Amino acid sequence: MVQASKYAKSLISSEMIELFDHRGWIKIDLGLDSFFVRSVFDDMQQARKSAISNNYPARRVYYDHLLNFNLAAIELPYNTRICPQSVMEFFKVARIGSLVCHLMGWESTVNTLARLFTMGDYNYRGSWHRDYQINDKEALAGHSSRSRRSVQAGIFFDHQEGFRILKKEYDRFGPHSIFDPCDNGQLERDISSIRLPVALDASLYDVISASPGTLILFDPYIYHQGSCNGSRLDFHLRFENVMAEKQLSRNSSQDFYVLPHLSSDFDISDLKSVGIPMSPRQNLLRRLANTTNYYLPIFNFAHYLKSRRKISALPRAITADSFSNTVFQAR
Ligand SMILES: [Fe+2]
Repeated sequence: MVQASKYAKSLISSEMIELFDHRGWIKIDLGLDSFFVRSVFDDMQQARKSAISNNYPARRVYYDHLLNFNLAAIELPYNTRICPQSVMEFFKVARIGSLVCHLMGWESTVNTLARLFTMGDYNYRGSWHRDYQINDKEALAGHSSRSRRSVQAGIFFDHQEGFRILKKEYDRFGPHSIFDPCDNGQLERDISSIRLPVALDASLYDVISASPGTLILFDPYIYHQGSCNGSRLDFHLRFENVMAEKQLSRNSSQDFYVLPHLSSDFDISDLKSVGIPMSPRQNLLRRLANTTNYYLPIFNFAHYLKSRRKISALPRAITADSFSNTVFQAR
């Protein structure tokens, strides 16, 4: 479907491809007109407002607040119920499929996850994780990010920074790995079992900042953490190499396939069948706890006390991020 076009080559040089393969992420300036980028951003802000006021059902809620509905993400963001025309115009111009295929050396690609993060003006930090488990076979592929069957994209229409990704040398099977290659993923399970995100020593990871009109492509097998100080409005997309057995659809302004539920005309009353969440607002007590903890981190402190044995057993470069998701969150 998509071939390495002159356009893709002009935005992604062979040095950038090499860098991605080696480091696991690259940043691409899409070269778009700044007024156009701003207008898409304005329309996306409007879409967020209307998702809240019209109770758009395909959504995620992480940290809702007492007096402010903190919508975390809009799912099915291409749906005609929510998607502004300018966003589709953006996809037409930016030809993300062509860029993904050029980077990964694929013939064509399918978008299997599409989410618009919409967090309000609150600090946010998720858990360190990877989106696919690394097994030995994958690691033996020379730790090459181009050999993965999936790549993830962040598309930014405003200045945003904070996303963290482990330097490959410190990731599993890297030469200075913080994970014991023989522990079978035990350290990752220990980290996930702690009720707070952990903080890694800052020398171990890259922090990615993006300016308006920027595309970030990263290897989702690498250990990473979503993080931002303040509001967030960016697309989070997953692309995979096309496999024949999948049933695929297309939206007319996009140069990639999508799974059927990501078609703009998908019937949104049928969300359960495709595993898309319809998160309700959190209840009053939970919201009260979130708001209190945001300004006075007593629940973080309680989580810390509860997990202190596990925390003290972690390697020296890993500690609990005691002020994560509060007004005191460090950058
Ligand atoms: Fe992730």
